[in-house]
Amino acid sequence: MTTTPSRPTTSAPASVPSQDGSGSTTRAAGRVGPLVGSAAAEARAHLVEVLDARQQGRSLPGAAYTDADLHELDLALLWQRQWIFVGTVAEVPEPGDYVTVELGTASVLVLRDDDEEVRAFRNVCRHRGARLVEEPKGSVGNIVCGYHRWTYATDGRLIHAPQLAPVEDGGVDPACLSLRTVHLREVAGLLFVCLAPEPPDDLDTLSRTVAPYLAPHALGRTKVAAQVDLVEAGNWKLTMENNRECYHCEGHADLVCTFFPTWGLADHEVPPRLRAAHDRYLLAEEGLHLACEERGMPYAPVEDLVEPPLGFRIQREALDGHGESFSRDGSRLVQRLLGELDEARLGRLTLHAQPNLWCHAMADHVVTFAVLPLGVDRTLVRTTWLVHEDAVEGVDYDVDSLTEVWRHTNEEDAAFVGLTQAGVADPAYEPGPYSVAERQVDDFVSWYVARMREEVSR
Ligand code: FES
Ligand SMILES: [Fe+2]
Repeated sequence: MTTTPSRPTTSAPASVPSQDGSGSTTRAAGRVGPLVGSAAAEARAHLVEVLDARQQGRSLPGAAYTDADLHELDLALLWQRQWIFVGTVAEVPEPGDYVTVELGTASVLVLRDDDEEVRAFRNVCRHRGARLVEEPKGSVGNIVCGYHRWTYATDGRLIHAPQLAPVEDGGVDPACLSLRTVHLREVAGLLFVCLAPEPPDDLDTLSRTVAPYLAPHALGRTKVAAQVDLVEAGNWKLTMENNRECYHCEGHADLVCTFFPTWGLADHEVPPRLRAAHDRYLLAEEGLHLACEERGMPYAPVEDLVEPPLGFRIQREALDGHGESFSRDGSRLVQRLLGELDEARLGRLTLHAQPNLWCHAMADHVVTFAVLPLGVDRTLVRTTWLVHEDAVEGVDYDVDSLTEVWRHTNEEDAAFVGLTQAGVADPAYEPGPYSVAERQVDDFVSWYVARMREEVSR
């Protein structure tokens, strides 16, 4: 686990752990490339069997979480074809700042160009294919390949290639050797990439819908206060399923100080022991709606989690206690509020997007979560806390206090995911039925099944 107290400023970090924190790339056992030939056909047939076997209202068959070949298909058919959340504009604030993201064997370089545009490239040299940038984040003037020193500008153009034959002598035109681009879109400060040649076209719907909700939090005027990478010992789908319910929230002592544990329950479904918390929630919601209406801020839920390739849900909801932030008493954790906000008691704006994003935007900070698969049973959860760009550490906020609730909650969630991975790998496992509090888990799994069915039949 690493904590970055402020944005990285080094031009070339000498030694940075790889994305899984182990110093090595994790791959499905026994193979270092994509499935091909009869192995691919067998894996696809197995995938169809697993998808067919899934019953609505129940979790997936065990193989979906444990089979290395099915994991390869997750990467090829889903992670390398859908829009994937990779971070925020605050992570690349200056020209030359970059982050790298691994999507299976595909590495993506997300970089702010000298013209301030954020772009994404395949992290592969156009000469003999060396990985260009190994560090997970940093800053560069130009991108220099470590092998034979081919050099690319931050817009991807090849600007220096020692001893490459000139065009007039029959050599290749350097203009044809720019870095290969990757589709990248910014949605109100959130960055998404897509490796498919023709990305799904529904990002516009997400953008149109969520931008007015996120606008008051002004992500473009935030900075990274902290970032924590946590590797969970489970399949990425278990990480997502765990996030999509609060059935287990009573296991989160810190979180339930402010996060109402009745999330996802209709009024008549609230059990007696949670009635008092739910009554506080209903009261707090009234106040929140009033505050939002006074400021013209949208708060109502918008949800389309299953059908579109980029299923999503957004809603602004009240927090318990002071109702301002994820602290022990619900009071703000950052004195400088985001954007031009004049009120701290605005609860949490929560966005869920399939397959790998959730985030909470409060008046004082934003916390984003990016889920990235490292192997069939290993998943990276990257948590990033954003504060106003002018907020001063030690004056306006304290990093330990700011991150405490979600650091603890993430560790508890990692334990739940690890337990589940062990259980779904056990021969005794059978998919069990969801409770009424797990509708979004069902939505996530249904979305997964629908997407994989569509992709495997292409
Ligand atoms: S592989 Fe990059 S310069 Fe040769
Ligand atoms: Fe949790």
